[in-house]
Amino acid sequence: MQITIALTKGRIFKETLPLLAAAGIEPVENISESRKLLFDTNRDDVRLLILRGSDVPTYVQFGAADIGVAGKDTLLEHGAEGIYEPLDLGIARCQLMTAGIIGVSPKEGRIRVATKYVNIARQFYAEQGRQVDIIKLYGAMELAPIMALADEIVDIVDTGNTLKANGLEARDSICEVSSRLIVNKAAMKTKHQAIQQIVDDVRKALG
Ligand code: PRP
Repeated sequence: MQITIALTKGRIFKETLPLLAAAGIEPVENISESRKLLFDTNRDDVRLLILRGSDVPTYVQFGAADIGVAGKDTLLEHGAEGIYEPLDLGIARCQLMTAGIIGVSPKEGRIRVATKYVNIARQFYAEQGRQVDIIKLYGAMELAPIMALADEIVDIVDTGNTLKANGLEARDSICEVSSRLIVNKAAMKTKHQAIQQIVDDVRKALG
């Protein structure tokens, strides 16, 4: 029985590898230095996929991967259908926040919000009773207020350096973010023993 684990490069990756190693899973080559997207491991029954972060929940939802590591931001944006979230890995911690130009008070009435988190933003502003037009962007959200594309952005904030470097300030906190281990619901039944073992080993490694 094959177990496929979906990972993403970037801020999560380096902290994920030791957790997998604790579960006895190690890639047989250096993933960071390779352009390949599918990797064998020291275990014949386990392989690793390298995906865009936002695609990890999609692979797990449809069972193309059994297990994944994804940020809570990505999971909230994607939705939880077909996915269990058994472990908070506590890594890549940051916050989802709204932000606007430093010193400019939030505009009354309808505002434009630029973000790649369109679902999260729509829900957040609706809960606040604020009317918004959402503009979907794929990156460099911090430019949008400066270029008058939007009044606010919704993005993840870690050190706050990116906001500051672009003349922005954080406004409202939407939620705390960290990486989660996720599992395809059907695979949790059909491959229960193998998957549960990995979940338990990673949980132990978290201490
Ligand atoms: C995120 C986010 C900000 C930055 C915030 O981008 O979009 O640009 O990190 O971090 P800071 O508060 O420490 O400056 P990331 O580097 O994850 O890449 P991405 O744009 O692909 O999401």
